[in-house]
Amino acid sequence: MTVTGGSEVYGVIGYPVSHSLSPVFQNAAFSYLGIKAVYVPFEVKPEDLKTALEGLRKAGVKGLNVTIPHKEAVLEFADTLSDEVKAIGASNTLVLSEEGISAYNTDWIGFLRAVEEIVDLSKKKVLLLGAGGSARAVSYALKLRNCEVYIWNRTRSKAEELAKKFSFETVSSPEEALGFVDIIVNTTSVGLKGDDVLFNYDLIEPRHVVVDLIYRDTPLIRSAKEKGCLFQNGFPMLVYQGAESFRIWTGCEPPVKVMKLSLKDFGYPTDSPRTPSRT
Ligand code: ATR
Repeated sequence: MTVTGGSEVYGVIGYPVSHSLSPVFQNAAFSYLGIKAVYVPFEVKPEDLKTALEGLRKAGVKGLNVTIPHKEAVLEFADTLSDEVKAIGASNTLVLSEEGISAYNTDWIGFLRAVEEIVDLSKKKVLLLGAGGSARAVSYALKLRNCEVYIWNRTRSKAEELAKKFSFETVSSPEEALGFVDIIVNTTSVGLKGDDVLFNYDLIEPRHVVVDLIYRDTPLIRSAKEKGCLFQNGFPMLVYQGAESFRIWTGCEPPVKVMKLSLKDFGYPTDSPRTPSRT
């Protein structure tokens, strides 16, 4: 990658942000298409968000991804919100210009593009684990596909609030829905570190499709593999949400294969989700 005067600057704001893999695949995409641009991580504390956004905009930064913990807070500082941002209540993509800041959300479409690589979501019955920011984007996507969604969340009131918003159901335990759902989606942070589990994973059946938004092989994903289920960890969604941000910023078709390939050394899944043990 060559960075010269005249290169456009993009980035990701979060706290912490050093672990972010977005610079890896966004820079790979810029390089591949010969776009003179560079993508960098910006660590911004919550109390500095307003100042940082204004400073980055005034310094000529063209676009930003937004990650934890700023996805909801940025709405307050944006001049325009897309319809999806209004519906989801969170933004992961900002366009900065002399006119101001426009907020978009690509998490929902990233989820659809990723998961629809392995399964047709249309009208499926889904157990949604979690009711935070990611769950809201996933709910928006599942609603578009007319899915029947059953939400479980540790804090029941948040599950009920989300279910009400999208006309979904809630369940008092994940086990309650396992018998009749086709797809299990984990949007909680459980499994990110260590061996924490959300329910007894022995109850997962080979017919379940298991999706985890965490981009490592969590205990949930490992159990799905052992059962011979179709499964997907969070890497494909990470790439597709970023690919859609890239499209908004540049107007170019994102080179998704290049983006995926750039993450191979960081654990992007190279094994087929269709495990041979599935019968
Ligand atoms: P994100 O933007 O990634 O969705 P978030 O909005 O902070 O992050 O949501 C985190 C989700 O993980 C929530 O559903 C949270 O449950 P609560 O609403 O009860 O807090 C869930 N979560 C985090 N730690 C958890 C744990 N130890 N057990 C179960 N759920 C957990």
